[in-house]
Amino acid sequence: MAKLTIDGVEVEVPDGTSILNAARQIGGALVPPAMCYYSSLKETGGKCRVCLVKVAQGSTKDPRPMPKLVASCRTPVGDGMVVQNLTSPEVLEARKGVVEFLLLNHPLDCPICDQAGECDLQNLAYEHGASTTRYEGERRTFEKIDIGDKIKLHMTRCILCYRCTYVADQLTNERVHGVIGRGDRAEISTYIQKAVDNDFSGNMIDVCPVGALTDRTFRFKSRVWFTDPKDAHRNCTKCSGKVVLWMKGDEVLRVTARKDQYGEVKEYICNECRFEHKKVSDWTVEGPRHIDRHSVIAQNHYEKIDLQKLKKEVERQLEFQRGKQLPENEIHS
Ligand code: SF4
Ligand code: FES
Repeated sequence: MAKLTIDGVEVEVPDGTSILNAARQIGGALVPPAMCYYSSLKETGGKCRVCLVKVAQGSTKDPRPMPKLVASCRTPVGDGMVVQNLTSPEVLEARKGVVEFLLLNHPLDCPICDQAGECDLQNLAYEHGASTTRYEGERRTFEKIDIGDKIKLHMTRCILCYRCTYVADQLTNERVHGVIGRGDRAEISTYIQKAVDNDFSGNMIDVCPVGALTDRTFRFKSRVWFTDPKDAHRNCTKCSGKVVLWMKGDEVLRVTARKDQYGEVKEYICNECRFEHKKVSDWTVEGPRHIDRHSVIAQNHYEKIDLQKLKKEVERQLEFQRGKQLPENEIHS
């Protein structure tokens, strides 16, 4: 086991755990953001650099600081390590720079993008980005590609996180994924289209952190915050059958897998559940999906709100923004 501190909070994790996953053990605001790492897909991470942190002390044995900021999703912890995330101005400045790079080519077409409201890049830019761009060059653009009749690839929006290629590689039978080209010519290989017949290809949509891969059966049907998400399940022989139904009135507009607090799917669903069962009668509805109050999707989404808890959370966030150290038990909660 290794004991380390992240922004002053102590945590003990098994050797070999990444700094990011150690931070997730603590939870709350000090967890670095992640755009490419995906815990249920092997080998992900190390591509986007938004999870950069400062290692002010490597370990008890070797207390030297690491010379550069490191990707927390790919750097293993050390016993006695001291990590700074939000408490390091250098990290916040670097993260701002990374967001600026990610937005060099990413179009600001949120008003017409289906991912708006549940887009990790939108959230990241809101929390860490600069309000202006310094880039004046020509942005790269691509033709939209249909990956079969259910998935649309809008490469112009892609941030090359590689998550979809890992889905194609790890959840489908044939090795069909790939990124071709280098630098600003790099693009998701259209060979990914060959994954379309596979029962699990639709999961590419869920893992995509931006609006580059969208569900053609849902495109332009509704802004996501006007929908009413419900947890539901059905008996399925191919997957767990546990999904979220995104409803408007009695109509099921979209079916997705369930994501955790880090936006990651733990139980992938098959294409039959995702695309073929769009009637409420196909499902056993469990109840309203819990939506984080910080999310724009929480608009029009009513659950029993604990006002005391909400007030405490707002006070906690304000205190954190003022740079005060929070009591450990509050961060855990
Ligand atoms: S299409 Fe989406 S999931 Fe695939 S590499 Fe691009 S941003 Fe990542
Ligand atoms: S999440 Fe660590 S580099 Fe992308």
